[in-house]
Amino acid sequence: MTNPFFSLDEIGAESEPAEMMIFPQVDQAIYERRRQMAGTVVNYKEMRMRYSCAIKEVRTKFDVLNSEFNVRYQRNPITSISSRLKSSASIMRKLDSKDLSFTLENVENHLFDVAGIRVVCSYVDDIYMLAKALAKQDDITVLKEKDYIKNPKPNGYRSYHMIVSVPVFFSDQTKNMAVEVQIRTIAMDFWASLEHQLKYKQEIPNQTQIVRQLSECAEQIASVDRQMWQVRQQIEKSEDIPTEEEILLEKLSRIDIAINE
Ligand code: GTP
Ligand code: MG
Repeated sequence: MTNPFFSLDEIGAESEPAEMMIFPQVDQAIYERRRQMAGTVVNYKEMRMRYSCAIKEVRTKFDVLNSEFNVRYQRNPITSISSRLKSSASIMRKLDSKDLSFTLENVENHLFDVAGIRVVCSYVDDIYMLAKALAKQDDITVLKEKDYIKNPKPNGYRSYHMIVSVPVFFSDQTKNMAVEVQIRTIAMDFWASLEHQLKYKQEIPNQTQIVRQLSECAEQIASVDRQMWQVRQQIEKSEDIPTEEEILLEKLSRIDIAINE
C-alpha cells in the first residue's frame, strides 16, 4: 500500500517488512497516533538541523573576526573553535530536571544550550573584544551574558558566557535560534576540561583535596593569564611605531599569503 504521509525511510529508520510498516491496516485511532508520532520525529530532526545551522552561522561570525584580525593586525585572537549539538538524552534529562515534558516547544522555549560554541583565545582581552564584536552585529540579539571571569564560580571556573539569538534563513521561513557561546583562554579551557572530569566520577578518594587543588590551580591560571596579557602589551608598546608607508608595504608583502581559514 502506498503510504499517504511518510515512509519509515523518511524518518530515518531501517526499512522493515511490509507488515511492520508504520501505517499498516490498523484502526483509525492507532493510525492517527502513529501518524502523529512520525510527524514528531520528523519535526524533531528538523529542529536539530535548525540548531546545527545556527551553530554554522555563529561559527562563521567568529571565523570572519579571526580572518579580519589576521590581515589587519597579523595575529589570530582565536586559537580554536569547537561546537556541539546537545544530545537527545541530555535534552530529555534537562527538560526532566525542569519538570517539563519532551516537546519541541519546550525545547525551543526553555533550553538555550541545544546549540553550543566554544571559542578559545590566547589572551583575556581578546575574550572581551570578541564578545563585544559579536554582540554589536546587527543580526545578533544577546539574550543573556554571564561573566565568570570577573565573577568566577566558587570552584574557580572562569569563562565568558553568552546566549545569543541569530536568525537563520531557510527556504520557507526565517527562524531566530538560540546559541550558547563560551569564550575562554587556553588556560581556562585546560582547567575546565580537567574539572569537568570530576562530574563523571562517582567516588573519588581525596575529593576535598582535589577540589582545593583545582581551586588553587584556577587562581594560578588566572594570574598567568594576567601576566601573559601584560607581557604582550609591553612587547607591543615597545615596538617601533611604523610609518603609514611601512604598514602598507608590510600588508603588500603579505598579500598573497593565504587568508587563514
Ligand atoms: P547548565 O544547566 O549546566 O547549562 O548551566 P546554566 O544554565 O546555569 O549555565 P552556566 O552558564 O552556568 O553553564 C553552562 C555551561 O558552562 C555548562 O554546561 C558547562 O559547559 C560550562 N560550565 C559551567 N560551570 C562549569 C564548571 O563549574 N565547570 C566546568 N568544567 N564547566 C562549567
Ligand atoms: Mg549546558
